[in-house]
Amino acid sequence: VEIIVLSDPAAVGRHAARLIADTLAGKPDPVLGVATGSSPLATYAELAALVHNGLDLSRASAFALDEYVGLDPAHPEAYHSVIHRTVTVPLGLDPARVHVPNGSAADLRAACADYEAAIEAAGGIDVQLLGIGANGHIGFNEPGSSLGSSTRVKTLAPRTRRDNARFFGGEAEAVPVHCLTQGIGTILRAHSVLLVATGESKAAAVAAMAEGPLGACCPASALQLHERATVVVDEAAASSLR
Ligand code: F6R
Repeated sequence: VEIIVLSDPAAVGRHAARLIADTLAGKPDPVLGVATGSSPLATYAELAALVHNGLDLSRASAFALDEYVGLDPAHPEAYHSVIHRTVTVPLGLDPARVHVPNGSAADLRAACADYEAAIEAAGGIDVQLLGIGANGHIGFNEPGSSLGSSTRVKTLAPRTRRDNARFFGGEAEAVPVHCLTQGIGTILRAHSVLLVATGESKAAAVAAMAEGPLGACCPASALQLHERATVVVDEAAASSLR
């Protein structure tokens, strides 16, 4: 894992956007893996600025990491909506090329298999952008997740539901219990991965990811197995690294 420490969240967003633009440059049909949550927002804003200045992502495909089960896709906090608002529109992506796991499918297992097939049909993900949970999760692969897992139904950890309550009127009970998420194996199949983290609350998870033992207790530690994993953090998120 290559770790890049920068002074503040704005610098993290600028650097991550540059890395993504460089990775996708020259690819006729680039494929970007996108995350929701707060961490990547600065990166999306910087990418939007690059698009404004001539970067063309209109042929790019995008695959989201995860989605809640049972939320109407039109619900403002469904990742389907969140990705449309924060990624598809500002980056000028073609909505027909933006994919989010279908958390309202009648057959969720089939929806997961279809999602894996769609990633493969697109030629795999060129760069997967990731945030990290305070408990070390990536996507919604909570501690204990299998390191070889593919897209599947998972139950959110109580801590994650509390962390995400801010998007549901402060009510952890209002956060869906289940989700669909790319597996750790899916994430490891991306041709490169780029994790962004900022703030003191991520420091322990960042240290466990990069320096801790490889294992399911810290799902993000699986990135130690990836040959092209880059982590861009601010000084606060780097503060527990040795
Ligand atoms: C988002 C996702 C999660 C978040 C993580 C950090 O699609 O899969 O793993 O990246 O929970 O969330 P923030 O960035 O809000 O701290």
